[in-house]
Formats: sequence, C-alpha cells, structure tokens
Amino acid sequence: MFLREEAVNQIKEICARYINEPSPLMLVLSDVQREYGYIPLEVQEVVSQELEIPVSEIYGVVTFYSFFSLKPKGRYIIGVCIGTACYVKGGQNVLDKFGELLGIRQGQTTPDGLFTLDGLRCIGACGIAPAININGKVYPKVKLSDVPKIIKEYREKKME
Ligand code: FES
Repeated sequence: MFLREEAVNQIKEICARYINEPSPLMLVLSDVQREYGYIPLEVQEVVSQELEIPVSEIYGVVTFYSFFSLKPKGRYIIGVCIGTACYVKGGQNVLDKFGELLGIRQGQTTPDGLFTLDGLRCIGACGIAPAININGKVYPKVKLSDVPKIIKEYREKKME
C-alpha cells in the first residue's frame, strides 16, 4: 500500500492533536482507526516517526486490542457473542453457521467487503443469549434458522 501525501498529512495532523498528552499513542490510534477503519503498517510508520515511538511497540498495541485492525473491515461487522452465557445457549454454533454461510472464519472479511465476522466476549446482553451485534444493532436469542435471514437482510440493504 502506498500512502498518498494527503493521507500522510492527515495522520500527522491526528498525531499533532495529542502530541502533548502524557500517553498519546492510544488516542492517536483510536482516531486513525475511526477515520480509516484500519491501521496498516504504512500508517504505523508515520505514527512512529511523529510520536517517536518504535513501530514494533505500535504494532504490539494494534494487534493486542481487538478494537484496532491491521486489515480493512467489512461494511457490516457481525459480532457473535461467545461469552459464557451465550456459549452455553449455542453462541458458538451461531458463529459457525455465519462462518459456513459466508465462507469465512472468525476475524475474516468476505471478498466483496460486505461482512466481517468476529467472536466477542460478553456484550452485556446475557439475559437474551445467544446475542449478536451487527454495527451496533443487537439481535436477541438468535437461532441457527435466523442466520440466513439476517445475512439476507444485510445483503438486501447493500442493494438499496
Ligand atoms: S455472554 Fe453473551 S451477552 Fe453476556
């Protein structure tokens, strides 16, 4: 990936916002993630120069927190809860069903860029387990037979 000058300047601008903070890295990475949707190595290199933090350290942070991503994510992020309450109620089977129908594994994105599949730890909806979250919308008590309908709902949205 080659970063355009415009993008480099924008990343420098984000770094400048927080340069006087005691620990600017998380703040900078959060803004970059929000702005671009992911934080590839080329972007980490610019942040490294600006904040004078080694790329290895930045890479460590980006790969440690699931909020950050090295690769572009899909338009719809399907987060299937596999925390204890959801797991007991079949959350793993729901995750597997999404994977099977979309042809991807956890952490992957469909080739058309529409869906990313994530397994999540407790999303605070244990009373309605198994629960999933798609771009902030929570679906309660998801059954395996609901999965094709949910996928269809978002595929049709794409065509709107
Ligand atoms: S374990 Fe799934 S919402 Fe709590």
